[in-house]
Amino acid sequence: MSTTEAGGRAIGRRVSRLDGPDKVTGKARYAADVPAEGVAHAVIVPATIPHGRIVRVNAAAALASPGTVHVFTHENAPRLAPLGGPPAGQSFLPLQDDRVLHEGQPVAVAVADTLEHAMEAARLVEVAYERAPFETDLERQLDRRPGEGEALPIFGWPCDSRVGDIDAALAAGDDLVVVRQTYRTSDRHHNPMEPSATLAIWDGDTLTLHDAVQGVMAARALVAHALGLDPAKVRVRADYVGGGFGCKGWVWPHQLLAAMAARELARPVKLVLTRAQMYTSHGHQPASRQTITLAAARDGRLAAIRHASVGPGSFVGNHIEGAAIGTRSIYACPNIETSHRLLRLHRSEPTPMRAPLEGIGLAALEVAMDELACELGMDPLELRLRNYAEVDPADGKPFSSKKLRECYVEGARRFGWDRRTHAPRSMRDGNDLVGWGMATALFAAFRQRAKARVGIGRDGRVLIETSTQEIGTGARTILPQIAAEVLGVPVEHVALAWGDTTLPEAPMSAGSATTASVGSAVHDGAVKLRERLAAAGGTEPARYAAALERLGAERLAAEGVFDPPAESPSSLFSFGAVFAEVKVDEDLSLPRVSRVVGVYNAGRIINPKSAQSQMTGGVIWGIGQALLERSETDHRLGRFLSKNLAGYLVPVNADVPEIDVSFVEDDDTVANPIGARGIGELGAIGIGAAIVNAVYHATGVRVRDFPVRPEQLLT
Ligand code: MOS
Repeated sequence: MSTTEAGGRAIGRRVSRLDGPDKVTGKARYAADVPAEGVAHAVIVPATIPHGRIVRVNAAAALASPGTVHVFTHENAPRLAPLGGPPAGQSFLPLQDDRVLHEGQPVAVAVADTLEHAMEAARLVEVAYERAPFETDLERQLDRRPGEGEALPIFGWPCDSRVGDIDAALAAGDDLVVVRQTYRTSDRHHNPMEPSATLAIWDGDTLTLHDAVQGVMAARALVAHALGLDPAKVRVRADYVGGGFGCKGWVWPHQLLAAMAARELARPVKLVLTRAQMYTSHGHQPASRQTITLAAARDGRLAAIRHASVGPGSFVGNHIEGAAIGTRSIYACPNIETSHRLLRLHRSEPTPMRAPLEGIGLAALEVAMDELACELGMDPLELRLRNYAEVDPADGKPFSSKKLRECYVEGARRFGWDRRTHAPRSMRDGNDLVGWGMATALFAAFRQRAKARVGIGRDGRVLIETSTQEIGTGARTILPQIAAEVLGVPVEHVALAWGDTTLPEAPMSAGSATTASVGSAVHDGAVKLRERLAAAGGTEPARYAAALERLGAERLAAEGVFDPPAESPSSLFSFGAVFAEVKVDEDLSLPRVSRVVGVYNAGRIINPKSAQSQMTGGVIWGIGQALLERSETDHRLGRFLSKNLAGYLVPVNADVPEIDVSFVEDDDTVANPIGARGIGELGAIGIGAAIVNAVYHATGVRVRDFPVRPEQLLT
């Protein structure tokens, strides 16, 4: 990327979060914090059965309760326009008929003058159901219907892929070492600190939504469609979002309910999901059953990879988890087959969750690779190096840039991998069995069309305007750094207006694509602005004011755009090598992660401080995936069992060891003008498998059903 001579001081600097002071002093305003005159509070009444029909809703007691304004049910709620093909996400419209398709589905909404009154009114709504048979158990469904399932496209990808001829390869090779195993990952729930919340305010026929959402533009499109509005009449704002991790990407029923209720009642309506409702009302990461076949020659070279994933879906959407997508591109192998199937259950709609796709799939594949290394008697790192993909095995395309080999080498050095003894149970620390495991990380580097306006005033202050969201990842800091770099001004002089559909259009904050996409639009706008200033004599920051004066302008702004082609001549991925140490108390079979080294290659790192935080956070997600997180379903009741943070385990500080993350940087200008590919979800990939592999190395027990629980280690 090009910089001015005066500039070049902002990118690569450990700039502290520019939104940090607002967050720690409580000034940061989240959707539910926005004041609104005459606001009414809405509380969802969730279905208590997983499948059936609503026979009767008795709202008499709720309506008689103090402060109740209204109770919406399927009998009195206005009709919404069917979503048909929604831009992304679930297609369920709330309160449109008497069908119940999953436990937790909104069956009524109580609105009252205070939150407490609304909660009480919701509690008093009586719903009578006619129950229907249901199925919530993926394993039972799979056993009953082996080989079945729907083949649906996964975002842009076909659900099946095939390179070469696996069966021929397997039949030909007598000398092949073959691993064939089935792995299971669990349902997991997003638990952002801020629950989903929407404040809907109508002004005449214009709607403003203050929404905890990862994509203001996507929310506007869907809400406008469902309510039959011109999108120009809908404004969605997200000042701050307290974490999303995927659950705030799509539009869910609560946003539509808030908007609809506010219109009907002609007053602002605020709807905040309860923590329990966060387990049924905005998606979760679906479990998976993944069957993997790996075949390699004695020298470790892969001859065949087959990865078939089946996952649960719902009856209210079409999300299918792309667990085997990464397998198509990770290792050099002439014969690779992948497939995905969906089995519908009477549960709420799953959705992407950090890290989707490779985060789930490599948890299985990278354990299979470890098993293969054991079968071959080969060091697991050596096996990866023997199968290093110089080009994308899926299509033969070159990678835009790939420094994974350097990651392996640097990671092994930092970890001290060469001191590992090969045999399981061969390393010890007092009463603890010690295990070392490793895995590869790979994540598709998404690029999205984005716009950003970059302007400057005579006081030298720069303003970036773009509709993108700050969901906690650091966009608020990184985007000003990019403009500061190009214009040669201090980053403190760059302000950002964001999270508002009235600003230039930016994509959803998802797929770790914001820096690459919106950052590139900011870069484009800043370069154009710099050129215009230079044309008027403003060739350096000290001359910008004079240039504006010469132009007779108080301010000058340029529209930046990033518009990547749908088809790229290159294959775009970010990479990493992850090494983990676990210690397992031999008496208690309790695995604890004691050390993690992750070395990542994701192009240019704009802000090493926020990047380090992102990767550290990702690794902590991986610890949850490997050892703790599992949303149990009560299959008799057809509901998630523990809809709270007491029954759903996430890592706490005591579970988190020293985490050493670093980057092998490169300037990936093939990917985009700023040379950065995106990192957030990359940190949550590979680490799960590295930990599970370390548990095997420590104990000699191979767990294929994640998370690893102590009882699985009792031998
Ligand atoms: Mo991320 S799971 O793409 O929000």
